[in-house]
Amino acid sequence: MTRSRSGCSPSRLDAIPFVVALASGEVVGWAALRPYSHRCAYRGVGDLSVYVAREARGKGVGGRLLAALEQRARARGIHKIVLFALSDNRTGRALYDKRGFCEVGVHREHGILDGRLRDVVVMEKIL
Ligand SMILES: CC(C)(COP(=O)(O)OP(=O)(O)OC[C@H]1O[C@@H](n2cnc3c(N)ncnc32)[C@H](O)[C@@H]1OP(=O)(O)O)[C@@H](O)C(=O)NCCC(=O)NCCS
Repeated sequence: MTRSRSGCSPSRLDAIPFVVALASGEVVGWAALRPYSHRCAYRGVGDLSVYVAREARGKGVGGRLLAALEQRARARGIHKIVLFALSDNRTGRALYDKRGFCEVGVHREHGILDGRLRDVVVMEKIL
């Protein structure tokens, strides 16, 4: 791990917290944190991604993945999780609301899906 002149490490996420959900020995979902920024000032912030296989959705897998990931993040000194979600992703939004994430704001015309610019909601949770 490299260190800046100020002596702080660039991220507490050099080893990325990553959890998977298994059903009958098969992976049916995963969640992970990437560093939010390479800058030292943001080294305690993780950027969330989560995915659950279609056939496994609506059974609490996403909620359990986030709970496990938050626990691992806390243990590594991560103090905050941020996420970026397409504004029409209602299932994702329901999951994040349930896990206590708060909306920070909306990036207008920020992501491209199916050739169209989409608004992206920014959410965060302080651990
Ligand atoms: C978003 C996603 C991870 C949710 O995973 P999941 O395992 O279905 O989530 P859970 O079963 O834990 O449900 C959590 C909450 O979401 C809501 N929810 C789940 N499925 C829903 C559905 N079909 N319709 C409406 N709300 C739903 C419910 O409020 C649920 O809590 P409850 O069942 O206790 O009421 C999953 O749908 C997914 O992988 N989607 C594609 C990838 C994606 O959008 N990732 C997020 C990118 S920002």
